[in-house]
Parts: sequence; structure tokens; C-alpha cells
Amino acid sequence: MSHTDDTVAAYHLDAAAYAGNGATMPDSVRRDIGAFAQQLGAGARVLEIGSGGGRDARLMEELGLRVRRTDITPGFVALLRAQGHDADVLDPLTDDLASPEGPYAAVWANASLLHVARRDLPTVIARLAAVVRPGGLLRISVKEGDGEGWSTHGSISSPRHFTYWRADALATVVADAGWRDVEIAHEAGRKNADSWLELSAVRA
Ligand SMILES: C[S@@+](CC[C@H](N)C(=O)[O-])C[C@H]1O[C@@H](n2cnc3c(N)ncnc32)[C@H](O)[C@@H]1O
Repeated sequence: MSHTDDTVAAYHLDAAAYAGNGATMPDSVRRDIGAFAQQLGAGARVLEIGSGGGRDARLMEELGLRVRRTDITPGFVALLRAQGHDADVLDPLTDDLASPEGPYAAVWANASLLHVARRDLPTVIARLAAVVRPGGLLRISVKEGDGEGWSTHGSISSPRHFTYWRADALATVVADAGWRDVEIAHEAGRKNADSWLELSAVRA
């Protein structure tokens, strides 16, 4: 099994517990979704990578956006469908990301691409650029730090693999993959004294 397979298996096992515990939204995420919705305008179509329990999609839709919910973990997709939503199992590294409706206005990937291997992130970010219209938006968040590693914490009882990023390296990956106006905010995590990078960018 690969790091990705093991991490997806860990989420799959405890998807319901994660969805329950993750329902409270951090202030920085709420703020970013508000800004995102304002910039995009009502009716804009968003591709979400790693919808998890569906918390962020719910708020985006309340603010007038149209969200395509996706997750690499089948357990999350099953939960989203049980809530009555369309949702797709989708790996942003390998699966077709395009929509029959044409390019998306934006991509939202909160705390999901931190599970992508460092060598694969440039490919994923370029694949996202390929399905977003020029002037469209990207917003991702990852954990700040050096290297990579396995961690067991929170409501997921098995280890998950994380790739940690420094802001400069992350900004370079995104700028080299078809995005401009890259901005990164540093946010303190709630529980583990960890630190997050919240990146926004515009499709070149
Ligand atoms: C920490 S959860 C975040 C879920 C949700 N976005 C949130 O903010 O609550 C990580 C998410 O990334 C997904 N994920 C795991 N490995 C991934 C990968 N290699 N590529 C994309 N998403 C992945 C998981 O299935 C899960 O939905």
C-alpha cells in the first residue's frame, strides 16, 4: 500500500467521526469562504477537493456558490450522498477533473492537499489550473513545517501521512503551475499548536 492508500484507509475507517468532530468551522476558514464568495459572485461553480464531511460546501452554498463535492475517500463521499448531495470519489492527481459545464470559477481545497506527496503537488496544482477559467480562484491550505511524516491525532484513529510546506516553496509551486497573485496567510491551528498556510491565487 502507498502512503496515499494508507491515509485514505484511515479516513475511510473514521469518516463519520471526523465529519461529526469537524463540524465547527475555524474563524479563518469562515473568513476565507466569505471573501471567496464575494469575489466569485452568486452562481459561480466551485470544484471542492476533499469535501470531507461537507462543512465548507454547506457554507459556500449558503453564500450562493454552486459546489461540486469530491473526495478521494469513499467513506466521505458515501456520507455526503447520504445527506442528499451529489458527490464524486476523485483523486486530483489521476482522475479527470473537468466538468461537462466547462471550466470552474474556482477550486477550494481546505486541508486536503497536505496529503499529496511533495513531488506530486506541482502536477496536482497544474491539473487544477487546467480546469479553472482565466481569472478564476484557487484556495488551498496545508500545514506549515519541514519534511513529511505520519501522525495519529484527532478523530482519525489510524496514522495519516502529511507533507509539510514552507510558504516560499509552496508559493513557487503554485506560481509555476499557472497561477498568479499568490498570497499566503499564516494561521495558528486550534488544537495541536500547529501552524497552517492558507494560500489564495488567481488563474493566470
Ligand atoms: C483533514 S481532512 C479535511 C476535510 C475538509 N476539507 C475539512 O476541511 O474539514 C483531509 C481531506 O483530504 C482528503 N485526502 C486524503 N488524501 C488525499 C489526497 N492524496 N489528495 C486529495 N485529498 C486527499 C481526505 O479524504 C479528507 O477529505
